[in-house]
Amino acid sequence: MVVSASETEPLRPNQIAQFTEPPAEADSLHPEPDALLDTNPIKLSVLRELSGRSILSARQFTKEQVVELAKLAAFLEKVEIASYHLLDGKMAITAFFEASTRTRISFESSILRLDGKVISIPEGNTTGARKGESLADMGEMFNAYGDLVIMRHTETDSVDQLLRNLRIPLINAGNGSGEHPTQALADWYALLKWRPALAASGKAGHKSLHLGILGTPGSMRAVKSFLLMSLLFQDQIAKVTVVSEMADPFGEDLIEDLQKADIRCEVTHDIQQSLPELDVIYMNSIAFLGDSYRKLDSRFKLDADSPLKKSAVILHPLARAEELSESLDDTAHNLYFAQAHGAVFIRQALLLSVLGRIDRLPKQIPSVES
Ligand code: CP
Repeated sequence: MVVSASETEPLRPNQIAQFTEPPAEADSLHPEPDALLDTNPIKLSVLRELSGRSILSARQFTKEQVVELAKLAAFLEKVEIASYHLLDGKMAITAFFEASTRTRISFESSILRLDGKVISIPEGNTTGARKGESLADMGEMFNAYGDLVIMRHTETDSVDQLLRNLRIPLINAGNGSGEHPTQALADWYALLKWRPALAASGKAGHKSLHLGILGTPGSMRAVKSFLLMSLLFQDQIAKVTVVSEMADPFGEDLIEDLQKADIRCEVTHDIQQSLPELDVIYMNSIAFLGDSYRKLDSRFKLDADSPLKKSAVILHPLARAEELSESLDDTAHNLYFAQAHGAVFIRQALLLSVLGRIDRLPKQIPSVES
């Protein structure tokens, strides 16, 4: 259900009241944003902390920032916001040096729906990169052409290269086997709509979730960023089980993050034994490694006959290969489509925060200042 809002016709109290009603038929295929806002106003001061910042890693977020971004996303998902022109006058450059369906198009959709403008580079080889131009030089040019850069690249060190001369914010949209922090925001936005209690601090939902990862976090950027962001929610997570064909699926820096966290973590090769215990399953198989796409862990497959808990949900950053059967698409286990669809709203929330447009939100937004 979408509620309309405009400057000439501000949100009426009864429209705002709809945010506080319990969701009608929330399920994993159609998780409703309402419950995230229920008696839970958005802390605008937390979102202002992100103003002007580059977004490079899931590590840089606090739990509070993730939750407040998700609450703003829920508001944006619920209200027709176009008439507020929230990104009017802002120009984003989407520079993609590696293939993408969801990330580039959902970012561009997010910006254009808020009346911002986009300079789109869907194929990096149409730039001076084809002639050998460095990312450092391109960064110097981007300073003059836009207000924000959203970059995806095959190389893990591409972020450092661009940042050598870049003085406007950069959003890392996936750097080789490095990270994909805004994917992790989309993942957690889907989870928080599915189980709003995960947003709570204190005892609610305490250590109730068994998280399963089918994949290799050390080599798959989306899985890595998801795991790192999940550590922020360690109060709610009882255990993480990683099902990987690798002997060491983490790599040194992730092991350090896990050791610092108060979280039980196990690694197994036995998917059949683990599956019936998992509440949330995050899976992926396609990784860009070296100079090509490779499939890792693709022998761990799920379909509608897999022995899943009745209430279990599956997340997948997509694109999928044979590890995720289409037979699951119409089941209540499917949270992956909601995860992809919700990306537009969580990216809008992030863009409004980074580009300093939080104060243009309608005054009727359920919000507090601290
Ligand atoms: N989830 C994700 O990064 O998808 P794309 O590769 O299509 O952008």
